[in-house]
Amino acid sequence: MRLKIFWSWKENWRSLEGLHRVLCFMKTPPAANHEKWGKGRGLGNWDPNGGKLAMIRKRYKNPASFSRTQGTVAASLGKSCHCPEDLKPSKDLEESSWRTQQAESKSEGTPMISYKVQVATGNFWGSGTFNSISITLVGSKGESPKQSLNNVGKDFLPGAVDEYEVSSDRDLGTLLLIRLHKEPYMFFPEDSWYCSFVQLITPQGETYRFPCYQWIEGHRTLELREGTGKLACEDAENPLLLRHRAEELKVRQGCYSWAEFAPGMPQCLAVENIEEMDTNVKFSFTKLSTFLLRSKLTKVEMKLKGFLGCRQSWKKLEDIRRVFWFNKTPISEYVADHWMDDAFFGYQYLNGVNPVVIQKCTEIPANFPVTQEMVATSLAEGSSLQQELQKGNIFLVDYKILQGIPTNTIEGQQQYMAVPLCLLYQTPSVDLMPIAIQLSQTPGPDSPIFLPTDPEWDWTLAKMWVRNADFHVHQNISHLLRTHLIAEVFAVATLRQLPMCHPVFKLLLPHLRYTLQINAFARVRLIMKGGMMDQATSAGYKGIVPIVGKGTQEMTYASLCLPDDIEARGVASVSNYYYRDDGLKIWAAIKSYVSNIVQFYYKNDERVESDPELQAWVLEIFKESFKNRKTSGAPSSLKTMAELTKFLTMVIFTCSAQHAAVNSGQYDFGAWIPNIPPSMRRPPPKVKGMVTLEDVLETIPPINTTCIALSSLWLLSNEAGDRRPLGYYPDEHFTEDEPKQFIKAFQVCLAEISEEINKRNKSLPLPYNYMNPPEIENSISI
Ligand SMILES: [Fe+2]
Repeated sequence: MRLKIFWSWKENWRSLEGLHRVLCFMKTPPAANHEKWGKGRGLGNWDPNGGKLAMIRKRYKNPASFSRTQGTVAASLGKSCHCPEDLKPSKDLEESSWRTQQAESKSEGTPMISYKVQVATGNFWGSGTFNSISITLVGSKGESPKQSLNNVGKDFLPGAVDEYEVSSDRDLGTLLLIRLHKEPYMFFPEDSWYCSFVQLITPQGETYRFPCYQWIEGHRTLELREGTGKLACEDAENPLLLRHRAEELKVRQGCYSWAEFAPGMPQCLAVENIEEMDTNVKFSFTKLSTFLLRSKLTKVEMKLKGFLGCRQSWKKLEDIRRVFWFNKTPISEYVADHWMDDAFFGYQYLNGVNPVVIQKCTEIPANFPVTQEMVATSLAEGSSLQQELQKGNIFLVDYKILQGIPTNTIEGQQQYMAVPLCLLYQTPSVDLMPIAIQLSQTPGPDSPIFLPTDPEWDWTLAKMWVRNADFHVHQNISHLLRTHLIAEVFAVATLRQLPMCHPVFKLLLPHLRYTLQINAFARVRLIMKGGMMDQATSAGYKGIVPIVGKGTQEMTYASLCLPDDIEARGVASVSNYYYRDDGLKIWAAIKSYVSNIVQFYYKNDERVESDPELQAWVLEIFKESFKNRKTSGAPSSLKTMAELTKFLTMVIFTCSAQHAAVNSGQYDFGAWIPNIPPSMRRPPPKVKGMVTLEDVLETIPPINTTCIALSSLWLLSNEAGDRRPLGYYPDEHFTEDEPKQFIKAFQVCLAEISEEINKRNKSLPLPYNYMNPPEIENSISI
């Protein structure tokens, strides 16, 4: 992430080693494969004679050099936090101990014990460092002196796995911790380093792995624990490790704290701007550059074509194709051709971008007085509304959550939003057809019930009002609240309450990647006053806050757990519901993986209930996302392995598959603006028989607003580089064999699901691919 700039320096080289370092750094990074290295270059390939690997940097033979250490950071993802004095190695003690050891070794000929050390640097641009790196090994029987890691100008290049030998005058026993000391080197400036992991091999051949996978910034010491997943109860006999995990959490709680973006919304990370965020939770260079480039290119394209300055209404529907022809997708083309079809309108409730709002209707609501006569021609011959209600073929979508939401003003023009009810019928040929629409929650002469038998533009405009309402519920509740915002709560609670050695931290970290930054971006660029949602939607900023607030008040645990949600909405037997079919398979795959992990580490229910870190974590989520609301059904504590498994499955599913389902199709379905108009410039019709195509064009957004909406949808529908699909975990936080096997089994299961989806899609006119595992990102990062 950092530019390694040397050309501005005017100093002479002070040593050949310094020059060598720069030259080495300019080389192309080796195509290192850490996993391959781990298997192929382990013990067997270690230089048995030490040879070039035995390193104690000469300049640090003067113990005074140790004074350069400026602080100790417990293994954390924080950037500026320091351990308390009692956890720091005492500088004087360390120097004195080192001097004594050296003296004793020389005078008495004490045999030195060598530990083989392998240090992996991240395999991406900017991950290497010019700074000096030293290491201290801490075991159950003592600790080694601090030793420099230096292979003469070749250390810590991007992708490298450097090998060293670290000596101790004694057997250190079981290795518990390492300290990585990052210090200035000659005239080189401070230079951040991304360390992937450190691996130690004892003289007896035992291997210890220390996962790191984080940036180390500044001159400081980072303490890392050996990678075995441990609950707090397993450290009970070891005060050093207990203190380490407590201190790590203290550090993180100082770095990551809660803030309120707006009243009623879930809490978010307290950060003023993206620059202020910790590097370890920010986008990588690849992701950031792809993201910014795509954003710029889309805007430039729109500007060049003169669309952004054009406030006029569209003159004809076909003109809208001109805006997105350069970014068209097969599905956006299909939508442009079929948006007026009733069957396609119904299809989108099952497999569109918001497939989570439709529910079975067993009784016509009192405020939606649809009669047998109104829908008779829409039902199967010889059937009746009552019969179809009893058979379970009638469905309802009710947008009452939008009642009372204030609407926006765009460029001085008032915008409008309906609060519709829509009745749908699954026909014998299994199409889901809309059969009645009412645009308000209050029936009466001013709120007619629109029917498929009405004049074409009356019926089409009524459906467009429903789609506009669906846009607001989808973007603000299904997408923003129930994936992005709640995932941010999961991320912050995990960073605050679980130490790196906790198995739940290891399990969840890959599923929280980049979520904090994309949400910070969304707050600044999309949601805030003047952001895209304010420039192009009916609700605007002043409407978003109450919608999300109401959504938060109504959010239930069941709605986040797909099997429960399907049951609660009564949609288990609807035909052609691919979101449900694919989602349930993925839910089951995640649950099986999580269950294996939970059983392996927890072993019994008692250990779940008595895990103080886990209980603090779940309580914090209950408090910050569900606002301590018991009626949500969300747990405030976890008592059994089954409860924990379900909760963790919900977290991973929400951050991966559920987000993919409500995010990835935004452009596909929204690019053709008449299909999902984000804003409406005229109020809903109060009578039938008056609507023309011109009225429709005067109601949907004008040209410039259309373009603002489209550029945002394009940007947010596509993952921006640096992808990690579901089940792909290149950072090996789990070091034991068993969890690695569980991951492999999870990957096999996902591959089988993908095969089934591919096979099914071949027979569909419109493939449903949003929940195909290779298309699902591990975390919410867009
Ligand atoms: Fe998203």
